[in-house]
Amino acid sequence: MSDVAKLEIDGKIFELPIVTGSENERGIDISALRAATGLITLDDGYGNTGSCRSAITYIDGDAGILRYRGYPIEQLAQKSSFVEVAQLLIWGELPTTTERNQFGQMLTDNAALPWDMRRHFDGFPTDAHPMAILSAMINALESYDLKNLHPTNQEEFALAAASLMSKVRTIAAASYKSHIGQPIVWPRPDMKYVENFLHMMFTVPYNDYVPTPEVSHALNLLLVLHADHEQNCSTSTVRMVASGQANLYASVAAGVCALWGPLHGGANMAVVEMLEQIKASGITTKQFVDKVKNREDGVKLMGFGHRVYRNFDPRAKIIKEAADSLLDSLHITDPMLDLARELEAVALEDEYFVSRKLYPNVDFYSGIILRAIGIPMDMFTVMFAMGRMPGWIANWKELHETPGQRIYRPRQIYTGATERAWVPRKERRR
Ligand code: MLT
Repeated sequence: MSDVAKLEIDGKIFELPIVTGSENERGIDISALRAATGLITLDDGYGNTGSCRSAITYIDGDAGILRYRGYPIEQLAQKSSFVEVAQLLIWGELPTTTERNQFGQMLTDNAALPWDMRRHFDGFPTDAHPMAILSAMINALESYDLKNLHPTNQEEFALAAASLMSKVRTIAAASYKSHIGQPIVWPRPDMKYVENFLHMMFTVPYNDYVPTPEVSHALNLLLVLHADHEQNCSTSTVRMVASGQANLYASVAAGVCALWGPLHGGANMAVVEMLEQIKASGITTKQFVDKVKNREDGVKLMGFGHRVYRNFDPRAKIIKEAADSLLDSLHITDPMLDLARELEAVALEDEYFVSRKLYPNVDFYSGIILRAIGIPMDMFTVMFAMGRMPGWIANWKELHETPGQRIYRPRQIYTGATERAWVPRKERRR
């Protein structure tokens, strides 16, 4: 196979190197294209642009494969805890018992928020979106942590990573508590990562919440499945912000904002809203699917299709099974799960979706699990952010360790007015 691509422009041939990844995926290196030809590439929405080399996560979208640091997502989902997966993503290897215990201790030691920070929650209106609180609080946390930490030093980076991973769940739960007007519940040193979060979310004065193993297992699984997904919108944002040498906290807070929208992390909420609307309107799933196909205004099949998967999103398969078994174990029947299953079946038998290779993605069933756990809908995207934290941290670290890393600075094809002379206001006409 050739290791150069030839490009002909105005009768002149230019050779561009082809780079090959460890899974044999190939890309044309155009980094010297403009210097050689004066031309740039145009790729609206970056559908064809490799923005970096990365050793963290591998996706084969045609085959429906997802691996973190080489380990298939199916194995990690079955065998690993979220904290172990975080260590794998951030440091590249599954932790030994000593490493796991050390990091676990760091998470425990760093779980509580600085005491002064509790007052920040009161500054938000009670109907503030938890994603707004989360990103603002991560930025606020930087002012406390970074007085002492320099994340470019390995040991201090580990502390900052532990602090962020641990405190993000404290912030998430505290933002929920202040939203519903209940006192903030602080973390317990004797509890593991997921249990501690559920404790902070659902404990009320004089009634300690103790999650069942099934609930903890389901949430752990959900976090593992969301932990990284190569250069998605929020991770690219983290890298973009980090490339300007912004600190870890600022970069991750930007990632939270990028995740917020319904086309990215907000999609899990949009799926449940869609299911509720179908139910409330009384139409059949077939009728709904027809509306989608007819491109009726504002009607979209949320949670279906994915930019990189032309096949099942492997995470969706795992989540669907997990939703089934969680609801069984909790003896819950959720009409939304039945509706989601029916909608999936109708869509997957329809030529329109099949020919476009539109399959359920990670967001299609995740909301069902979150509902069963008791997580309110406006916290769904916060849960995604908690899960994605290790991926963002790993990407921040990788970027900082890339020799000769430059600031991200895409170019554009300008389509505005050509040069024109300034006009005095009284002479301006529309
Ligand atoms: C994600 O996990 O970030 C989403 O599936 C979106 C994406 O990968 O583009």
